[in-house]
Amino acid sequence: MSSSLFLHRLWLAVAGVSALLLSGCSQTTSEPGTGSAPEPTFSKVAPVTLYTTREPGLVQPLLDAFTKDTGIVVDTVFVRDGLPERLRAEGERSPADVLMAVDTGNLLDLVENGQTQAISSDVLNAAIPATLRDPGGHWYALSLRDRVLYVDKDLELDHFAYEDLAKPEWKGRVCIRSGQHPYNTSLFAAMIAHDGEAATEEWLRGLKANLARAAAGGDREVARDILGGICDIGIANAYYVGRMKNEPEGSEQRQWGDAIKVIRPVFANAPDGGTHVNISGAAIALHAKNRDGAVKLLEYLVGDEAQSLYAKANYEYPVKAGVELDPVVASFGELKIDAMPLTELIKYRKLASELVDRVGFDQ
Ligand SMILES: [Fe+2]
Repeated sequence: MSSSLFLHRLWLAVAGVSALLLSGCSQTTSEPGTGSAPEPTFSKVAPVTLYTTREPGLVQPLLDAFTKDTGIVVDTVFVRDGLPERLRAEGERSPADVLMAVDTGNLLDLVENGQTQAISSDVLNAAIPATLRDPGGHWYALSLRDRVLYVDKDLELDHFAYEDLAKPEWKGRVCIRSGQHPYNTSLFAAMIAHDGEAATEEWLRGLKANLARAAAGGDREVARDILGGICDIGIANAYYVGRMKNEPEGSEQRQWGDAIKVIRPVFANAPDGGTHVNISGAAIALHAKNRDGAVKLLEYLVGDEAQSLYAKANYEYPVKAGVELDPVVASFGELKIDAMPLTELIKYRKLASELVDRVGFDQ
């Protein structure tokens, strides 16, 4: 057991003893028969084991709050890479109850490997739009990662379709990371779902022709290169803007963040026009030992307060509507999500990756 986990457990044990003492005190002052039964102590409640590919710091405050609320301790295992391989190696002995990951494709891989199980929860179904969860109940989005347009803050532009990136007026003015990065193959897969393979291939050729520099680096470098005058617009995830604009005044990244504004593009062909999102999400492990506790944890994570805190931890957008936003994220306006179900578009991620190679996008 790590020292932090030990301290965490110790704190819970102390808190539990205090709670017992307090409830014991109140009972001695109550009339016989009117005292409520003492709360069950969490030592009798089975813990939930969470395997997460996300930095544990992002969710720890929420897990602590969950434990305080329910008495269920969450043992967190940070699996940076190779979650499917680890589950395969552990087989039936796996202690994992909840699997938490980023990117629809990663969650779908777990489902296709047979490493998840279906659940049915009215709480989850009410909080999470149907397009952002598995119709079969195998995975659920917990936060949204909208893929947006970074724009030079001095440029007049208020409406944008992803398709516009290929227009000749943007020649030599666009920055983007590798076309093979999952953030981009997910966006390109959505383009295929909306516009078809042929139109997407042509669009990718047009976008490639408009690049100001090679498709490389990370999302934040789009802002850096807009500040540096290399490009005027680019595609990147919105949460990086939250991170950059919350850096200390005068720092390098704060300057990158302050050089841009955010426009949320739509798909030209989509009648109800929304922005492409990827997700962070979770599933219940096939061999979960504490399925009930695992479902409780997921339900807790879509509560109003948890949603707000979980999304704010990384400047993501809550999956549940009407939840309080981080101020920088709120400044981008309300997120209208592309109506195409994630399960529809993710079918095309392999084809998207093939198209990236076919047009030599990264060359
Ligand atoms: Fe990222």
